[in-house]
Amino acid sequence: MSEDWQQVARDVSALLREGRRQVIAKMAGPMTVDEKTGRKDLVTNIDKSNEQFLIAGIRNMDPTAKVLGEEGFGDTLTSLDGRVWIVDPIDGTMNFVKQHDNFAMMIGIYQDGEGQLGFIYDVMNDVLYAGGPAVDGVWANDQQISAPANLALSEGLIGASAPLVVHDTAHMQKIVHDSAGMRIYGSAGIEMINVLLGKTLGYISYLKPWDIAAGQVMLNFLGVRVSTIDGQPLNMLSSNLVLVATEKAQRDILQIEEDDVSL
Ligand code: IPD
Ligand code: CA
Ligand code: CA
Repeated sequence: MSEDWQQVARDVSALLREGRRQVIAKMAGPMTVDEKTGRKDLVTNIDKSNEQFLIAGIRNMDPTAKVLGEEGFGDTLTSLDGRVWIVDPIDGTMNFVKQHDNFAMMIGIYQDGEGQLGFIYDVMNDVLYAGGPAVDGVWANDQQISAPANLALSEGLIGASAPLVVHDTAHMQKIVHDSAGMRIYGSAGIEMINVLLGKTLGYISYLKPWDIAAGQVMLNFLGVRVSTIDGQPLNMLSSNLVLVATEKAQRDILQIEEDDVSL
């Protein structure tokens, strides 16, 4: 692959824009919806065909890299050595099926475990969020994004996944209580866009590597903390209970975890 990261960013953006065109065209036709682990964990024919399309494009650009894809069309990953691409072809498949809206396509590129470039494509709004240390910035289409304000937990809205709130996992109800309010968008990608834009100050969810890979790169670049709910670095080869937060909100939330108090 070209070591010109600006060129890589342009090539990946073009690949995603073509992927989007195909996804939108297929949405007009019949959709096959299957359950994976249960009725709330769905996959469609379009998730699968888009992952195959994206991985073929990645292999064309970077033949020796390893690719991890949610739907299994990539490689089995045992380490993060070398260059690793992590792909979520449709993030928010439930929204995709039920709303035809509020879903994203995501790609993260890591080099020896270090995030280099992230891409989150808000498909229906046609806004591609892209960037990271390799290109020294983060953009929403052509508009460069500045770092979100470093709000404390009480000063802003927090995103979460519904099961964590319902089951009060990791003191979620206390965290929501101490914040200015909770929002639930149903797509990790859309949630992380909201944090990038400073519309929410954080997001808490149980996530797989492909749910967080792209967002982590851009969020970290803009000074937003991404860790486990205990403040540890993520293990990008497995699932994590992920805490995305501004520096101040991360401190507030880690204090709640340490105090171990419920509402
Ligand atoms: C899911 C969505 C959802 C999050 C789940 C993810 P998928 O991704 O991002 O918001 O709560 O944990 O698995 O399965 O639609 O790609
Ligand atoms: Ca997915
Ligand atoms: Ca996902």
